[in-house]
Amino acid sequence: MEKFVIQGGTPLMGEVSISGAKNAAVAILPATILAADVCVVENLPAISDVLVSLRILSALGARVRMLNKNCYEIDTTHIRCAAVPDDLSRQMRASYYFLGALLGRFGSAQVAMPGGCDLGPRPIDQHLKAFTALGASDSVEYGRIHVESDRLRGAHVFFDTVSVGATMNAMLSAVRAEGQTVLENVAKEPHIVDLANFLNMMGADVRGAGTDCIKIRGVKAMHGCTYSIIPDQIEAGSFMVAAAMTGGNVLIRNVIPKHLEPITAKLELAGATVEEFDDAVRVYRNGDLLPLKIKTMPHPGFPTDMQPLMTVLLTIARGTSIITEGIWENRFRYVDELVRMGANIQVDGQVAVIEGVPELLAAPLRASDLRAGAALVVAALSASGTSEIEEIAHIERGYENLVGKLQGLGANVRRISVPAPSMPQAL
Ligand code: EPZ
Repeated sequence: MEKFVIQGGTPLMGEVSISGAKNAAVAILPATILAADVCVVENLPAISDVLVSLRILSALGARVRMLNKNCYEIDTTHIRCAAVPDDLSRQMRASYYFLGALLGRFGSAQVAMPGGCDLGPRPIDQHLKAFTALGASDSVEYGRIHVESDRLRGAHVFFDTVSVGATMNAMLSAVRAEGQTVLENVAKEPHIVDLANFLNMMGADVRGAGTDCIKIRGVKAMHGCTYSIIPDQIEAGSFMVAAAMTGGNVLIRNVIPKHLEPITAKLELAGATVEEFDDAVRVYRNGDLLPLKIKTMPHPGFPTDMQPLMTVLLTIARGTSIITEGIWENRFRYVDELVRMGANIQVDGQVAVIEGVPELLAAPLRASDLRAGAALVVAALSASGTSEIEEIAHIERGYENLVGKLQGLGANVRRISVPAPSMPQAL
């Protein structure tokens, strides 16, 4: 069992470089299947969700070669199998992107019901709605989703809800369908645009990504390419919050400041200073933290994946903050951990009311999901005393070398292995 041990109270100082975007990488890797050719994908974050995606590609018959720890060459020429092994698909939510990509190339795909963070119900009805509109049938058998079509045909899809996953899955299948597909009420996150750019580099014809309506003209064949993934908006936001929370001064490099605007705007209202450069932001704070009202929304609204981090920041703001979760039904489970650190937070359904306290106190903590785990790390960095965080596998799904990056900023953080408790011989 691995843990983080964090002695808090040191302001973060220095520079940190942001890795490639997880939520772009986990869609772009399956997208390499759409051409029977070789793609080189650069700026891949070295995180476990990427490793699982590469293992799935390899299990399907792709030749996967590491060029360096953030760059892989993927040859999908000899893929013959369209069934993702169950044990791998259950390891992450994003395995559902193999449905769209395999359907696009082979007209058939089988993926076990995906795993991932438990944030409440995570239906995939909108993904299936898009596949059905394109002419595929779907069925669920023994926990596996099976989609199939003799011939995918372009269609008009109006999504009932704005979904990142359904938008990307529809794009993955529609690029190889016959004729034009129009996707309306789509998600507009930076990773949607990144996937569209990657698909276009492979010879697809995708227009409008980043707006409410995406138009795709299907192509008969696609080809390999070399592509570099955008920086991770949420990893950058996490370091921005950590700098503001600890009263530090951090230059966060390799970012696209435009992607950070929803986060920057709230941090400035909370009393932090954010200086923007071409591909970096500097975050620091001189005065007290101020309370905020935030509601999470699809991009360009405030991102739900930053919600736990902002809650942590506001635990020590001077006054009462209100955070409303607008995307997921169950994304406040980490609040109990913060309360054990001395935070004053009341949760009622989708709303958290946070009364600022002067400081957080160290405690033994447990990460319940990826962003909740990152938020606990930030809480521990600011708290007085030494905290230990368990269940860090959740955090390592989405943050490359978090301990090394924090140590580079002067934080007192260690990752330790503790032997699992052995069963007693007799009770
Ligand atoms: C993606 O999840 C991200 N994951 C999540 O990040 C992120 O929280 C979420 O988008 C919202 O930004 C990946 O990209 C791998 P959605 P996704 O489909 O695609 C409802 C992280 O921490 N919905 O946009 O699964 C759904 O219940 C992770 O990095 C349907 O009703 O999210 C939710 O309320 C956690 N039917 C809302 O839409 C569907 O078919 C948004 O979900 C699909 C979704």
